[in-house]
Amino acid sequence: MSEPQQSEALSNLLHEDRRFPPPDELAAAANVTVETYAAAEAEGEGFWAEQAKRISWAQEPTQVLDWSNPPFAKWFADGTLNAAYNCCDRHVEAGLGDRVAFHFEGEPGDTRTITYAELTTEVKKAANALLELGVKAGDRVALYLPMIPETVFAMLACARIGAPHTVVFGGFSADALASRIQDCGVEVVITADGGYRRGAPSPLKPAVDEALKSCPEVRSVVVIKRTGQETAMADGRDVWWDDIVGKQSEEHTPEAFPAEHPLYIMYTSGSTGKPKGILHTTGGYLVGCSYTQWATFDLKPETDIYWTAADIGWVTGHSYIVYGPLSNATTSILYEGTPDTPHKGRWWEIVQKYQATILYCAPTAIRTFMKWGADIPAKFDLSSLRVLGSVGEPINPEAYVWYREHIGGDKTPVVDTWWQTETGMHMISPMPGVTSGKPGAAMKAVPGVSVDVVNDEGIPVQNGEGGYLVITKPWPAMLRTLWGDDQRYVDTYWSRFEGRYFAGDGAKKDEDGDLWLLGRVDDVMNVSGHRLSTTEIESALVSHPSVAEAAVVGATDATTGQAIVAFVILRGDATNGGADQVTELRNHVAKEIGPIAKPRQIMVVEELPKTRSGKIMRRLLRDIAENRELGDVTTLTDSTVMDLIKSNLATAP
Ligand code: WTA
Repeated sequence: MSEPQQSEALSNLLHEDRRFPPPDELAAAANVTVETYAAAEAEGEGFWAEQAKRISWAQEPTQVLDWSNPPFAKWFADGTLNAAYNCCDRHVEAGLGDRVAFHFEGEPGDTRTITYAELTTEVKKAANALLELGVKAGDRVALYLPMIPETVFAMLACARIGAPHTVVFGGFSADALASRIQDCGVEVVITADGGYRRGAPSPLKPAVDEALKSCPEVRSVVVIKRTGQETAMADGRDVWWDDIVGKQSEEHTPEAFPAEHPLYIMYTSGSTGKPKGILHTTGGYLVGCSYTQWATFDLKPETDIYWTAADIGWVTGHSYIVYGPLSNATTSILYEGTPDTPHKGRWWEIVQKYQATILYCAPTAIRTFMKWGADIPAKFDLSSLRVLGSVGEPINPEAYVWYREHIGGDKTPVVDTWWQTETGMHMISPMPGVTSGKPGAAMKAVPGVSVDVVNDEGIPVQNGEGGYLVITKPWPAMLRTLWGDDQRYVDTYWSRFEGRYFAGDGAKKDEDGDLWLLGRVDDVMNVSGHRLSTTEIESALVSHPSVAEAAVVGATDATTGQAIVAFVILRGDATNGGADQVTELRNHVAKEIGPIAKPRQIMVVEELPKTRSGKIMRRLLRDIAENRELGDVTTLTDSTVMDLIKSNLATAP
């Protein structure tokens, strides 16, 4: 197949006629309108100065962006503020102390309701405890915790005293924890005895003990009691949260810090090499999260019940469970556990119970629910939902439509939000009151954000063409650097295309100029000189009625450069993967995209290896496809998945 034929085939796959305009009622009262886009366009930085008014500043900023030393940005640099005050005290002062901040739902079924008044008190006490432990502004504190309210208290307590937190996802290994602690020089760790996952207590503290063997600088470990399991405590180093926080004063006056004071470091889930410590600072980040949570979800804090079903140990949790929602005085749901405990309808039971109005999750979750079947959510009343969000990877049109139909009652807009740990906030997304959504497209830059798609030479592509996604102007929640490595920051993000931020993602502008994300550019395959996106082949596979989920990798091939290898999970009701079915799937891909896209191999598997944030670990699949020894699997949700896949392969056709 020649290049032009192939790109024609690719645009056929992306030729999606379905459009979902905003519901009239939502559009009529929407936070963001076409005028918002126009204002953002006309006002430039002035638009961000306006958005900065969402935040309470101790000292109002007179500057907006200082870009005098690119790519090192300063936003609102002469302003001062306290992030925790913005998430807690100011709402109480505004008379909202009785508003619920979190409806917490533990996996075993225990619940806790936390009002803004209670949240404020808990954060003050925790801040006082950190002070007692000698934590000072600028000191880094590591958090290794389950999804419980104390995790939020601990983050905000750090923010309150100006100590940047680094939250390490509770499922990472001791080694991963140690390397992060070492990288940013942590001296105090906050953890828990354990958390509940899949119906059982899962210990956390032993991993901390193991990690600290190689982290002699850590002098204190605060341990939250969650599961009550037997926990070793090191004399002189470890202290129970209840003991040290419980006795603290409920008074604490927040100190104002400069806008550029570090708020947190978040390590990106490693693809290759040393993890990158993404540094976010206070003022611009808070403005960015606060504005986008309000805009993208059409948030009405007085009435919405908002649920980001992601982990706090991931940037989505930082921006859209903690800083965005709390700065907007949102009532949120916080759920500790897995979606299938104790039954596969748990999420829908929670939506029904709290009458959730906004749900935000990852396509991988949606595809899992598709696999389990629409009859499960159908048993629950989900009619309270009015906006659905998706994050973390491209959402294939089938999953988008299923989500809208079976979860959203065919009435809710689906906002497919593209952003990164580095961007801190949504960058590309439909706006639910404005955009006529196209299934699978992230559509347009958020008002105030400027992006483009460029070719190898950095020249913007025409509509109908694909290339690399770049961000063309600084934005308030952007990362400021990589912790301790300014040069790597410059090299990774700002060197590929002069003056523009290189996101590492492929994207395409369709005929209307709307944006479709095509996956990481490192996931773009080159087969016999043809460029093919893993995402598009996955979409083609998932569009076959027997496929629930698919992952595609480019395996090194002596003849074609790379060869396409697909791993598929079949739907429950599909017959189990005989040779005929594999042939049919290969032909299906050939039909959808073109013979060049036909996978060399299709392996039918039970599970796919995923990171904690739900991303398929293509690197591991590539190792299997190429029969290499498996790389590091510490970030897998379930490291037995790889064994399962390997044993399956032995019998796969
Ligand atoms: C991918 C998660 C397509 C993308 C917030 C990006 C997406 C990486 C989308 C960042 C989306 C995230 N459509 N791809 N809506 N959202 N991605 O840092 O490849 O964990 O570069 O941040 O996820 O992942 P991260």
